[in-house]
Amino acid sequence: MAQNTIPYTAYQEYPIEEMQRRAAEFYTDIRRRRSIRDFSNRPVPREIIENCLRAAGTAPNGANLQPWHFVVVSDAAIKYQIRLGAEKEEWEFYHRKAPAEWLEALAPLGTDEHKPFLETAPYLIAIFAQSYGVLANGQKVKHYYVQESVGIATGILITAIHHAGLVSLTHTPSPMGFLNDILGRPAHEHPFLLLVVGYPAENVQVPVITKKSLGEIATFL
Ligand SMILES: Cc1cc2nc3c(=O)[nH]c(=O)nc-3n(C[C@H](O)[C@H](O)[C@H](O)COP(=O)(O)O)c2cc1C
Repeated sequence: MAQNTIPYTAYQEYPIEEMQRRAAEFYTDIRRRRSIRDFSNRPVPREIIENCLRAAGTAPNGANLQPWHFVVVSDAAIKYQIRLGAEKEEWEFYHRKAPAEWLEALAPLGTDEHKPFLETAPYLIAIFAQSYGVLANGQKVKHYYVQESVGIATGILITAIHHAGLVSLTHTPSPMGFLNDILGRPAHEHPFLLLVVGYPAENVQVPVITKKSLGEIATFL
């Protein structure tokens, strides 16, 4: 038992029918989410992004050390720097580094090294995974399950952005070390991914894809 506890009064129970309805409605809503690669430049109030980030910060995580940092970029000059950095790595990826099998898997998505949305979208959220924390006195604190924790927080962030009525793209130019340089983050923070956030461009198109069925992704024993 933990040393310091309080009653968990935040729990909310629903009648079975209401739970069934809520679960079905949530699925119906979340399955509308798509990765968007063409953004409008319409501004988005910062408060919306702040609350989505607060939601991400509630994620379960290893030993509650919360091994993440989110850098929210709306400044045009910084977005331009990020676009240059990303397009350089993406050119290397598409023209030199990517194995044929990877390019084949990407072909249906129609992606290439051009990333204009990195300047068009109102927000880029660079997500960093901290391999350790640093206390005020400079002492290092080891973090546990960093990838899992940051992945879960990112999932909640993507869901919160969708729930708010915005769209996002999970972008991973590889390697992403340029983000540390541009955004002034320390070396023990590893760029996890870059989330592009905003409104979709008018008449935006998305690739035709399918999701695996429940029977394919889950086993009940
Ligand atoms: C870890 C991760 C990295 C991704 N990297 C990129 C990327 O660099 N560029 C891109 O266009 N899409 C990227 N995606 C988006 C995927 O292509 C997309 O999620 C997938 O095709 C399914 O489409 P959907 O998100 O519309 O359901 C990434 C997704 C994830 C989860």
